[in-house]
Amino acid sequence: MNAIDRRAATITRPVAERYAQVRSRTETLAAPLSPEDQVVQSMPDASPTKWHRAHTTWFFETFLLLPLLPGYRRFDESFAVLFNSYYVAAGPRHARQQRGILTRPGSAEVAAYRAAVDAAMAKLLRDPPAEALPLIELGLQHEEQHQELLLTDILHALSGNPLRPAYDTSWREPPGAVGAARMLDGPRGRGGNRP
Ligand SMILES: [Fe+2]
Repeated sequence: MNAIDRRAATITRPVAERYAQVRSRTETLAAPLSPEDQVVQSMPDASPTKWHRAHTTWFFETFLLLPLLPGYRRFDESFAVLFNSYYVAAGPRHARQQRGILTRPGSAEVAAYRAAVDAAMAKLLRDPPAEALPLIELGLQHEEQHQELLLTDILHALSGNPLRPAYDTSWREPPGAVGAARMLDGPRGRGGNRP
């Protein structure tokens, strides 16, 4: 391995590891939820779990694989519209407040979409062009942001169910937590756009 190859390997390995870690974390967060749980959109400001899983995948497909992996073809052309959010330059978008009616594609198909994009990303990550690295990091931070949204959105959905289902029945107050959890007052007004 020459000096350039060694440097490429040094750069590539942590990115590939981080990619795998972040993508796996999303699936871990969705794992306790049934396919029915994953379709629910409890208010226009929230998105279904399944949509978060697909939209974060759409990001890598649209901004990394299509422009940078030779020969890559979209997993499904319809996903380009269904799972775009606010990216006007990336084409038309399914209405945000109607994400909850997307019973199709199902959770299993979204899982297959994620797996296919991850496999293609693995090819790209073997020898990523320099311009890919900041975009991959952007995609990973975007996905981490959606992981937070996935949790807040499903907690809101579950909170409206009279059966009072818990997202995680094994959750306990973290050791060292000070005082009981409570709401804090803050400035009131309109929030910004969610990603
Ligand atoms: Fe987003």
